Amino acid sequence: MATTNKIKRIGLLTGGGDCPGLNAVIRGVTKPAQDYGMTVYGILDGFEGLVEGKAVELRDQDVSGILSRGGTILGSSNKGDPFHWPVVKNGKITIGNMAKAALKNYEAWNLDALIAIGGDGTMHICNKLCKLGMNIVGVPKTIDNDLDATDITFGHDSAIYVVTEALDRLHTTASSHHRVIVVEVMGRYAGWIALNGGLAGGADIILLPEFPFSWEKVYDKIRKRELMGKKFSLVCVAEGAKPKDGEMVVKAKDIRRHDPVQLGGIGEVVAKKIQENTGRETRVTVLGHLQRGGSPTPFDRILATKFGAFAIDLVSKKKFGRMVALKGNEVKNVKIEDAIARQKLVKSTTQAVTAAKAVGISFGV
Ligand code: F6P
Repeated sequence: MATTNKIKRIGLLTGGGDCPGLNAVIRGVTKPAQDYGMTVYGILDGFEGLVEGKAVELRDQDVSGILSRGGTILGSSNKGDPFHWPVVKNGKITIGNMAKAALKNYEAWNLDALIAIGGDGTMHICNKLCKLGMNIVGVPKTIDNDLDATDITFGHDSAIYVVTEALDRLHTTASSHHRVIVVEVMGRYAGWIALNGGLAGGADIILLPEFPFSWEKVYDKIRKRELMGKKFSLVCVAEGAKPKDGEMVVKAKDIRRHDPVQLGGIGEVVAKKIQENTGRETRVTVLGHLQRGGSPTPFDRILATKFGAFAIDLVSKKKFGRMVALKGNEVKNVKIEDAIARQKLVKSTTQAVTAAKAVGISFGV
C-alpha cells in the first residue's frame, strides 16, 4: 500500500514567452526522474497543451543534447491561459474559462503532480490551478528578471550578454561617425535588462520604466559629452520606458494574452527627439527577440539545471504550491502565492544604479 502514495507520473510544461535555459530545466527534471521512480509527460505548448490534451512521454534520450539549445523542445504559448481562454467565433474573439478541461486532462493522464516553468503569468495560473486541487511546483524563468521571490531568473544573463555585445559593436560605429545610437531592449515594467546590459556595455544614458525621464536631462548629458570632446553617445532604453509627461509606447494589443499590451517603438521616439534637439545625427537598433533566442550562457545553464533537479526533488517530497527560488547562492523554495505578490523593480537605491551613476551614466532624471 505504501507505494501507492508515491509520486509516479508528473507533467512538465513551459509557459509564456520562451528564454534561454528552458531546455536545461527540462533536462534537469527528466534525467533524474528514473531514479525517483517517476515518468515525465511533456505537455506541449504550455497550458494550451493541458487544455487541449497534448502531451508526450519524455525519456532520458529525448533530453540528450538539449542543454545548450535555446527555446523549449516542448513549445510554449502566452495565449493559453485556461482562465482566460480565447474563443474565436465568426472572426470575433471572446474570453472563456477552460480550467475544467485542464483539470480533466490532468486527471485523465493520471498525473500526480505538475512542474510548470514560467514567469509571472504562469505562476498566477499555477496559483489558481493549485486551488482547484492540482499538485504544482513552479520554476521561475524570464529574461526580464522581474520575479521578486528569486534573486535572479535564468534567461536574464543570456539576454544581457546579447545587449552587451550589441552595445560593444555599436560603440565603435557610433564613435567613428560621431552619432548617437539608441538601443531599444526588452523590459516591460522592470528595467533590469536595460540596467544590467547598459552597465556592462558602457551605455552613456539608460532609460528605465521605473524612472520616468526628463527630455532636457537626456539632451544635457549628450551636450556635456560633446563639450568633453565626445561626439557620440550610446542610449540604452527599455521598451517600457516613458518620459515624465508621457506614456509607454504601445505597438499593438492582443486580448488573448495574459498581458494584452505589446510594447515597442520608444527607441524611435527617443532617437527622433535627440536628433531634433541636439542636432546630432542619430540611429536606432531594436534588439527585440534576439535577446530571447539562442544558446544560454554557462551561468543560465548551471542555474536552470539546479532549478530542474531541485524541482523534481520538491515533487518527490510532495512540497506542492511552491516555487523554486535562488536566495543568495542557494536554491530554496517559496510559496507560489508569495512569489506573485509583487514584481521586482529597479529602485534608486539598487547597487547597479548607484554604481552606474558613480561612473557618470545618466538615467535622465
Ligand atoms: O516577458 C518577457 C518579454 O521578453 C518582455 O520583455 C517582452 O515585452 C515580451 O516578452 C515580448 O513578448 P512577445 O514575444 O509575446 O511579443
